[in-house]
Amino acid sequence: MDRRTLLGAMLAAPLVPLAPALVRPAAAQTDFDVPFVTTPQNVVDAMLELGGVGPDDTLIDLGSGDGRIVLTAAKRWGTKGVGYEIDPRLVSNAQRAARREGVDHLARFVVEDIFVADLSAATVITMYLLPDVNLRLLPRLRRLRPGTRLVSHDWDMGDWAPQRTIEVDAPEKRVGFRKTSRLMLWTV
Ligand SMILES: C[S@@+](CC[C@H](N)C(=O)[O-])C[C@H]1O[C@@H](n2cnc3c(N)ncnc32)[C@H](O)[C@@H]1O
Repeated sequence: MDRRTLLGAMLAAPLVPLAPALVRPAAAQTDFDVPFVTTPQNVVDAMLELGGVGPDDTLIDLGSGDGRIVLTAAKRWGTKGVGYEIDPRLVSNAQRAARREGVDHLARFVVEDIFVADLSAATVITMYLLPDVNLRLLPRLRRLRPGTRLVSHDWDMGDWAPQRTIEVDAPEKRVGFRKTSRLMLWTV
């Protein structure tokens, strides 16, 4: 699948394409696997609730963007977390936000490619990626420690059926005409 098709899939989210101007312009997006599109805050909350995140968890967000998922888990549940993100500018912003919000002892952000990042410490992994990226990650995800929970926003894992799927209203969603998000949970 080429880059244009991937971006189209993201914008379809999951059904209907919307204006590409709503995501970071292609010129600023180098060869990243997924464009920067934020998960609306109420959907972040629902993802973390679906994953049953708590103070004893170690959360990893794959492609952490502005850091909102890791930051929310740290602020709301005191969860330790790491965001792996390929864009150094987004990582700097997320680190600044962690300091500003007083959770930099819990929330770490690292410039790292999700395809090489060490995921072994995770008890929960969150993802808002793309269908083919999920599938490329799948062999590694299935080899994680038994009991590790995976929560994906909008995109599934092919043949690996989720144990739970929920639909969440997402009025602030910046992609797609249907303002809902589909969240799926798997346990390794
Ligand atoms: C759709 S955004 C999701 C951001 C955040 N997780 C959220 O839900 O709001 C995907 C993020 O993945 C990042 N990304 C794309 N390819 C990556 C890669 N190979 N390794 C790490 N991050 C990547 C993008 O820069 C972008 O910030």
